[in-house]
Amino acid sequence: MSRRILMKFSAGKSVTSDAGSGIMGAGGEMLMDTIIIYGSCYGTTKIYAEALAGRMGLESVPYDRMGDLGGYQKIIYLGGLYAGGVKGLAKTVKKINAAVCERFVVVTVGLADPEDEKNVRNIRTSAGKQIPEALREKTVFYHLRGGIDYTKLNFMHRTMMKLLYDQVKKKPLEDQDAETRAMIETYGKKVDFVDLGRLDELVKALG
Ligand SMILES: Cc1cc2nc3c(=O)[nH]c(=O)nc-3n(C[C@H](O)[C@H](O)[C@H](O)COP(=O)(O)O)c2cc1C
Repeated sequence: MSRRILMKFSAGKSVTSDAGSGIMGAGGEMLMDTIIIYGSCYGTTKIYAEALAGRMGLESVPYDRMGDLGGYQKIIYLGGLYAGGVKGLAKTVKKINAAVCERFVVVTVGLADPEDEKNVRNIRTSAGKQIPEALREKTVFYHLRGGIDYTKLNFMHRTMMKLLYDQVKKKPLEDQDAETRAMIETYGKKVDFVDLGRLDELVKALG
């Protein structure tokens, strides 16, 4: 997966590295341009991350294999939504240097409809709590739809979904929010809402 890329130093020197391209910061630290990190349990976020990386000419790295992020100026994080939290986000932000990072892009992948404003507000509120204050003002959110295959869920996730489903299944339709609706409609099934076309807008905005 790794690629050797030419790195330029402000002093005019250049070296090659497996990590990415970069320049020297004012403090002599190596500043790297952009990296894509992702957190995925069942692969839908990984599909988006790899497709995005392909379109942007970058690599995508799973959060549990990421190295030091301290020198990156733009960090794009894609994470599956699990009970409102973004998989791997809390661990990732600990490795980011908010003084160096100029833009932190958080892309969530969930089952609930990202066109639903209340759903988006809820996601941003709970994901925002996982992001330290210094980084929050540099954070931009995007929201994509993933999928689920109940035959692939691990025991803990299946149990969590059953408990949740039993709690909400009798809610009248008018009381169901986007998250509840998505879970009731897809419970026990295999559904795939992955739409790589949604990345076009993202690539344009990140360009
Ligand atoms: C235990 C569990 C909790 C989940 N919680 C949410 C949630 O809060 N909001 C949401 O939109 N989707 C939720 N989902 C759906 C996942 O976000 C969705 O399946 C996503 O595509 C998973 O990404 P991954 O395949 O990269 O792991 C949940 C799924 C499971 C199994």
